[in-house]
Amino acid sequence: QKLDIELTAIEKGGYDHFMLKEIFEQPQTIFDSLRGRLDAKNGQLTLGGIREYADVLKNANRIIIVACGTSWHAGLVAEYMIEELCRIPVEVEYASEFRYRNPVVGPGDVIIAVSQSGETADTLVAMESAKQKGAIILGVCNVVGSSIARLSHAGAYTHAGPEIGVASTKAFTAQLVVLCLIGLKVASEKGTITQQRFQHLLDELQDIPEKVAATLQLNDAVKQVADKYKDARDFLYLGRGYNFPVALEGALKLKEISYIHAEGYPAAEMKHGPIALVDEQLPVVFVATRDSFYEKIVSNIQEIKARKGKVIAIVTEGDQIIPGMADDVIEVPEADELVAPVISVIPLQLLAYHIGVLKGYDVDKPRNLAKSVTVE
Ligand code: G6P
Repeated sequence: QKLDIELTAIEKGGYDHFMLKEIFEQPQTIFDSLRGRLDAKNGQLTLGGIREYADVLKNANRIIIVACGTSWHAGLVAEYMIEELCRIPVEVEYASEFRYRNPVVGPGDVIIAVSQSGETADTLVAMESAKQKGAIILGVCNVVGSSIARLSHAGAYTHAGPEIGVASTKAFTAQLVVLCLIGLKVASEKGTITQQRFQHLLDELQDIPEKVAATLQLNDAVKQVADKYKDARDFLYLGRGYNFPVALEGALKLKEISYIHAEGYPAAEMKHGPIALVDEQLPVVFVATRDSFYEKIVSNIQEIKARKGKVIAIVTEGDQIIPGMADDVIEVPEADELVAPVISVIPLQLLAYHIGVLKGYDVDKPRNLAKSVTVE
């Protein structure tokens, strides 16, 4: 018993919980997911695992991303990335829905199955049935040799290392960068991206580990925000564009770890429902980094403030406008909007973590949840 406890303490590497350790590992795990693939200096990108399928991808009629949970959120970001970069229509499906609804799928379609564990039953069955109908399957998995990885025609691993905390953190950011690499590779083969934009995004990816490390320095500031709002009954998370799936992921993290009801929504869509919940008790987290949606989200913040909601805003360093409107502000390093989710999700992971810990919950093993759902 004592030995077990000591071993676990060693595995946590000085952190109180696996979740915190894994959040803090992200500069390294993102670097590992880029290593050997990204060569920004020479403008090169190599993805050995999909090389043989480069033509299939380039000529795909449609890409369908199937996943569950946090991996599904990574898929939503990838939809925006791939449509923008490759001009191929992308759909993102909950694996559990896709497998049962007799979807129209066949030759010419490429399925990307995204899964940390590579063992999620719904994702596995969804990809198997699409494969039988003639689609080509790419796997984006973290666990090497997992069932989903083995059943895929091709793929690219995320190199996040073992993820112990039930709530996914470092696997998510690794999925984002690997899906971005896939999008960039296909776009460059297809000729749907200019050389200048391609090089810019390679440079941006190269800088991500350092920017994530800088974002982690905000840990204490996020903890203070957590302390201020930990007793709220509900939270709303809002974002637009690339930051919309980040809002969903932030809300999911909070639900999983702190058992506080949280909803993620596209910021403009809040007018069609969630705005009815806004009062002085409701914390609203805005993921509002500077991007092509910035002006729109500023007016969404005004709409919440006009109804006395409490605004916690994740903004880009040096923002001159939002800090004057929000109750609490977390400033993160500037990044191209395509890769910004990798950075803007970090404070949301930390917020959920600290609220869960402050409430006294077992953040590494939240009640009722499993690390990998291998039954339906
Ligand atoms: C479970 C885990 C989540 C994970 C989801 C999908 O619900 O608790 O953290 O996102 O399964 O898992 P996968 O291994 O397929 O990414």
